[in-house]
Amino acid sequence: MKPIITVVGSIHMDFYIHLPKLPKEDETVVGYEFKMHPGGKGANQAVAAARLGAKVFFIGRVGSDFLGPMLLENLRSNNVDVSYLTVDQSTHTGVAFILLNSRGENMIAVAPGTDSRVSPDDVDKALPAVKSSQALLLQLEIPMETVVYAAKRAWEAGSMVVLNPAPARPLPDEVYRYIYAMTPNRVELAMLTQSNFTQNMGLIEVARMARVLVDRGVRCVIVTLGKGGALAVTQDDALHIPAFEVSPVVDTTGAGDVFTAALTVALAEGKSLADACVFANAAAAIKITRFGAQATPTRMEVEEFIASRRADVKKLK
Ligand code: RIB
Repeated sequence: MKPIITVVGSIHMDFYIHLPKLPKEDETVVGYEFKMHPGGKGANQAVAAARLGAKVFFIGRVGSDFLGPMLLENLRSNNVDVSYLTVDQSTHTGVAFILLNSRGENMIAVAPGTDSRVSPDDVDKALPAVKSSQALLLQLEIPMETVVYAAKRAWEAGSMVVLNPAPARPLPDEVYRYIYAMTPNRVELAMLTQSNFTQNMGLIEVARMARVLVDRGVRCVIVTLGKGGALAVTQDDALHIPAFEVSPVVDTTGAGDVFTAALTVALAEGKSLADACVFANAAAAIKITRFGAQATPTRMEVEEFIASRRADVKKLK
């Protein structure tokens, strides 16, 4: 049966400039072309989950400017239920400026606009959706008060709470016990555990840091490692799931979003943590071969991709 997932989060229009290289501070780099793509971590995750076969409700806000209706229509056309999306006249729709180099790497700046108005009241209005969902999916581009409130209400309703702690922000102690799964990258993990981030951190060290979050109450911490795949850590286990190699990599924007959405869909369907990570790695691998944060694969594309590859899961000693 289709899992039901509620996403509470951000929604943006992404303004992309493709460049030969990313600029340094005070440097101007002349690029190739400009494009607009729908984005925002919340909306990216909602669209990705819907394409992977979930029934998805989205709780968020857009402005009454020209971008709001475009983003609303984009969600609708991707089969995301927008009954709980608010049009807010008080400020502009959220936007992101994305600089993308020829290796698919990016720099992103966000003006949150209406994202910063998503409130606990919005969650209360959408409680029927939250209560009917197997999973609630959250990120950190909306007010922290709303993140904590939504997590608590979903946890009370027995729904599985998944948090993608991006962009990195400190979390209140209270929230950890509401979270079933969390998907930090290494930078976010280091920030949350107040550890030093180094590029050459080994898997054992990453697992040790992830276990700090498990000890705070999170059931599974799945650290996304980019080309290194994912490391899934629970109280009893640490599993390394290597990434699938793909080429060419054109745009890594939103790779963490599709990973988190796919993981949530798979866990909500009852897949094991290892299988859910393989599914999420496959969805992220396909995404990075395409431009745009929402250029995410369908269910069939992910299943065909997995059938054509060898998936590895290694237990850490
Ligand atoms: O995770 C990628 C997203 O981060 C982009 O779509 C951009 O809008 C920012 O929110």
